[in-house]
Amino acid sequence: MSFEIRSFIKPLIQLEGVWKAAMAKALITGITGFAGSHLAEWILNNKKDVEVYGTYRLRSRMDHILHILNDIKTVECELKDSHSVDEMINAVKPDIIFHLAAQSFVPTSWNSPAETLLVNQIGQVNLFEAVLKYGLDCTIQIACSSEEYGHVYPNEVPITEDNPLRPLSPYAVSKVGQDFLGYQYFKSYGLKVIRTRTFNHTGPRRGEAFVTSNFAKQIAEIEKGRKAPILYVGNLQAKRDFTDVRDVVRAYWLAVERGIPGEVYNIASGTTYSIQEMLEKLLRLSPAKIKIQQDQSRMRPSDVEILLGDFDKFHRQTGWKPEIPFEQTLQDLLDYWRNRV
Ligand code: GDD
Repeated sequence: MSFEIRSFIKPLIQLEGVWKAAMAKALITGITGFAGSHLAEWILNNKKDVEVYGTYRLRSRMDHILHILNDIKTVECELKDSHSVDEMINAVKPDIIFHLAAQSFVPTSWNSPAETLLVNQIGQVNLFEAVLKYGLDCTIQIACSSEEYGHVYPNEVPITEDNPLRPLSPYAVSKVGQDFLGYQYFKSYGLKVIRTRTFNHTGPRRGEAFVTSNFAKQIAEIEKGRKAPILYVGNLQAKRDFTDVRDVVRAYWLAVERGIPGEVYNIASGTTYSIQEMLEKLLRLSPAKIKIQQDQSRMRPSDVEILLGDFDKFHRQTGWKPEIPFEQTLQDLLDYWRNRV
């Protein structure tokens, strides 16, 4: 396997009479969130010559990054506001951008479709325009999604990047828009955009609205006697391809270091479980006796039936493959909730 490695090493500069290499600046939009906080941690632990910057909003909860606040630089920024994004990009002048901030919960996108499109698509346009305005030569990874594939036929799995996109929610449409904007800004202006279509990912700090975290939290609450032993669920027939978030953020780094600008890559595990199977795995990790009950309000107007990704293109380009077994991810997630409820 051979791949080119993009170097972010900067020229030497003189600081107080001493020659030093200026550090490359990596900016993470959404650093206070789930993947953002894990990515910041990964860079701090593995890339000593990179400074980590991250955007937050006034109402962002900081608990995921409290332990690293002294090691990163945070900048307030509202992605929907072009002025705010412009000021932030001018202040940071990043060499690398990981664009992870988004309205990322599918059901919210039915309640707030316009807001979802605004944050995800216009937010990204504001970012791209600011990078162009200041003439920055930076590499930009954008977090697209397997939800873009949407309605997938049984003979189309495992899904490659060439599969038709048939989005089934406003969220999925917003991600198709982000994806194609990434392609278009690359073609029109040569912006070095690398698109990652990440399949479901989970692990400690996963927001409690998402299925793995929601079920794990309910189990932890039942174990502590804080909740009657009934676990509420939605559609258990859907199938998803889960990767550990810690494997995913390593993939994001490799995407900017070894990925080809303009290209799109699936990031997936290459295995799929029904939500029912995932639930059974979680239940096996608990001694509690739990009844399962369907909650109609958790059903969606249309749900993606199956996601199973082919990550061969990304593997060939970067050498990445997932390393953390799903059982370990679920154990860590359940322990995370046991320590919090
Ligand atoms: N959230 C939730 N809660 N989902 C449930 C529940 C429940 O109680 N019961 C069943 N499900 C089913 C959903 O209907 C869906 O089929 C599946 O579990 C996964 O739901 P989520 O965890 O909410 O994730 P998602 O697949 O809709 O979207 C996630 O993955 C995308 C990548 O494929 C999100 O992380 C997106 O941001 C991401 O792009």
